[in-house]
Amino acid sequence: MNVIARNICSAALRVARQEPSVKSFCKTLPNFQPARFKSNAVTFPAGLIFRQLFDYQSYTYTYLLGDDETTEAVLIDPVIELVKRDARVIEDLGLKLIFALNTHVHADHVTGTGELKKLYPMCRSVIAEVSKAKADVHVVEGDAITFGRFTLKVVSTPGHTEGCQTYILHQNGKSVIAFTGDALLIRGCGRTDFQQGDSAQLYDSVHDKILSLPPQTFLYPAHDYAGQTVTTVEEELRCNPRLTKSKEEFIEIMKNLNLPYPKAIDRALPANMVCGVFDTPTS
Ligand SMILES: [Fe+2]
Repeated sequence: MNVIARNICSAALRVARQEPSVKSFCKTLPNFQPARFKSNAVTFPAGLIFRQLFDYQSYTYTYLLGDDETTEAVLIDPVIELVKRDARVIEDLGLKLIFALNTHVHADHVTGTGELKKLYPMCRSVIAEVSKAKADVHVVEGDAITFGRFTLKVVSTPGHTEGCQTYILHQNGKSVIAFTGDALLIRGCGRTDFQQGDSAQLYDSVHDKILSLPPQTFLYPAHDYAGQTVTTVEEELRCNPRLTKSKEEFIEIMKNLNLPYPKAIDRALPANMVCGVFDTPTS
């Protein structure tokens, strides 16, 4: 075993064993509390195909969900540059794409829904009615998107943008997975300083509609900038550095983020208002 491999292994072992060096590092973290995480009682529904796909440019997660019996599938938040990759996964798994959903009008990448519609003519694009963006299906709170034996419930979670939606997959009447878009990120949340952003509204949306779900509900965000892939309601209620604060403190935090102007916004917003390249001729 070479030196690099040996170092990686010993670091992994230290983490696994929670040796003192890891514990002392964790104690320096601002919100550190000793772990008391219990294993998830929730499992993914039988027959659900699930793939989490990533865009290295915009740090966007795209989710492919399918029914292994009917083969009907949906994509959540596809990225235009990665439509061919998504299509390959869809083909490899023998799925039939029937919906391409956006959680909101993105500012950091152009949606792939327009291109996907060219590849899959039966596929219908979906976005919030309030976003005023072009799509085949405009949804509001309480609507449902069905693929095979599964249904995603539409929940309105504005604040990052006016038209942000969370899509929640239920099993036996209980929420199992929520796709939170930019409303709730892992240990964070979407910014609120453009696109009709409203910190107070975001705080209420997240607490009332997402963090009020059963504690073991899996939460999958639209982005992650640190390599994290999934969280749960229980984790975010305990560890989210912004949303564990009071509403007033949260508003103050969001006011002082001083984030740079989003690089892709001037290209992405106009394109996403027409569902990517919704109206361009089929090529
Ligand atoms: Fe966003």
